[in-house]
Amino acid sequence: MPSREWSQEEIGECVNAVLRSRRSVRAYRADPVRRSDVLDILQVAARAPSNSNTQPWRVYVVTGPPMQALGEALVAAFREDKLPPSRHFPDPLPEDFGRHHADFAQRYYGCLGIDRSDGAARARQTLRNFGFFGAPVGLIFTIDSRLTRHSWLDLGLFVQNVMIAAKARGLDTCPQVSFARFHPVIASQLRIPEGEVTACGMSMGYGDMAAAVNRMQMPRRPVQDFARLVGFDG
Ligand SMILES: Cc1cc2nc3c(=O)[nH]c(=O)nc-3n(C[C@H](O)[C@H](O)[C@H](O)COP(=O)(O)O)c2cc1C
Repeated sequence: MPSREWSQEEIGECVNAVLRSRRSVRAYRADPVRRSDVLDILQVAARAPSNSNTQPWRVYVVTGPPMQALGEALVAAFREDKLPPSRHFPDPLPEDFGRHHADFAQRYYGCLGIDRSDGAARARQTLRNFGFFGAPVGLIFTIDSRLTRHSWLDLGLFVQNVMIAAKARGLDTCPQVSFARFHPVIASQLRIPEGEVTACGMSMGYGDMAAAVNRMQMPRRPVQDFARLVGFDG
């Protein structure tokens, strides 16, 4: 805790600075992350609200040899390509979202110098997801498969809190839905109990900010595009 009470303005500036500085980081320095930092992050992230305080999140945190083994198993499964593809988006993606998706791909592959027609280079980059982009810590977020989308919303709030709590400690992250398809492999590596399903994964560590991929800043829609304020003056 700070040695004196913080003013509302200071708290506001601090929270805004953390929210603004978070971005998805896809290249990391080798510096390890302390176990105590991981525990602190998870403890504060669990302040996330949830429907009737059901707290449906589960998280498996890996580092060192178990993380290496998980990465290797995932890369092998990706190459084998036997698991059914998981659909992250409806097909077709409604036009409005499709434009943002295309813009993301152009920026992402553009900053990596990958031509969009170069399927092999794109696959190599996708594969980097499973090595947690070289981060020293990987997280796998699961949820009880009987729960419905309302509880998935709770899980999303927890995931966001993890990223913000990490950033507040100088740690970078990348949320990754790519792991979802490989739940059977993850479950077997991490001995996850039956009945849970992988919602997403996350890389965590100290970002290598000299890497071109980390200099990419994704734009956001202006507020008027997604919000309608009703009953306000002016
Ligand atoms: C639920 C979720 C899943 C994501 N999955 C992936 C992923 O599998 N691989 C990846 O590189 N980025 C992934 N991202 C990161 C998004 O591409 C990123 O959040 C978005 O482009 C906005 O950029 P920013 O996070 O840097 O602001 C995911 C983000 C979210 C919220």
